[in-house]
Amino acid sequence: MADSGRDLDRARIPGHVAIIMDGNGRWANQRGLTRNAGHEAGEQALFDTVEGALELGIRDLTVYAFSTENWKRPAEEVRFLLGFNESLLLRRAGELDDRDVRVRFIGRRDRRVPRRLVRLIEDTEARTADNTRMTLRIAFNYGARAELVDAARQLVEAAQGGSLRAVDEESFAARLYDPEMPDVDLLIRTSGEQRVSNYLLWQAAYAELVFTDTLWPDFDRTELARCVATYEARDRRFGGAEDRPSADGLDAGSGPG
Ligand code: IPE
Ligand code: IPE
Ligand code: MG
Repeated sequence: MADSGRDLDRARIPGHVAIIMDGNGRWANQRGLTRNAGHEAGEQALFDTVEGALELGIRDLTVYAFSTENWKRPAEEVRFLLGFNESLLLRRAGELDDRDVRVRFIGRRDRRVPRRLVRLIEDTEARTADNTRMTLRIAFNYGARAELVDAARQLVEAAQGGSLRAVDEESFAARLYDPEMPDVDLLIRTSGEQRVSNYLLWQAAYAELVFTDTLWPDFDRTELARCVATYEARDRRFGGAEDRPSADGLDAGSGPG
């Protein structure tokens, strides 16, 4: 098992890694802290993971920061999360820019998201728009079902009186929140939960899923490299098939070297 990026096959590094950053509340509660302290502790995990992704040459990293379902949480926690994401951008957007990271947001920019935060999101996207080393997408007020519904609405609008044949996978994908976003290769979820929680349902159609028990605040670049090693050992088939004679099935001595 790789415990750093050194043992990885550089040719098989996933292009797009998506992460469900989960377990902040449990991490905090285990320490007798408030859930919000857990969210705060997740910040250094995120930035160490970004650093690790840059080291590995990952081109796209997408992290789940706030879901359309997270509005159900107590008002005090929701308020904290909005403020925390704002402060994170204020304090650290410059650092991401310096690292040549392009930052984008996916999610609904509806009235529940404070105007100040929307402006900050737009500023950060504009400021980093020309960066090329990696694209960090932050899923904020994001839900995959909402994204698919939003795309379908646009298609219906565009298709008024037009042909149904114009609706295909390509035209649908072109109306997702970020049409430039490639398919997810590796989807990681921390904290031991094994579910997708309404994340990237279209883009992760053929993603390899890796679940780790590590709680998000304890995640770092070493853990990321471990997940990538797990990914590299997988056999991706995309629905295809190929004969692969097993060692058992070969006549003794007739196998290749
Ligand atoms: C993930 O940690 C952060 C967000 C969903 C915003 P949680 O807050 O879900 O932590 P747990 O799952 O309750 O431990
Ligand atoms: C998914 O985590 C959303 C984010 C990490 C932002 P949740 O903690 O909200 O998901 P469930 O409720 O366990 O499915
Ligand atoms: Mg959770």
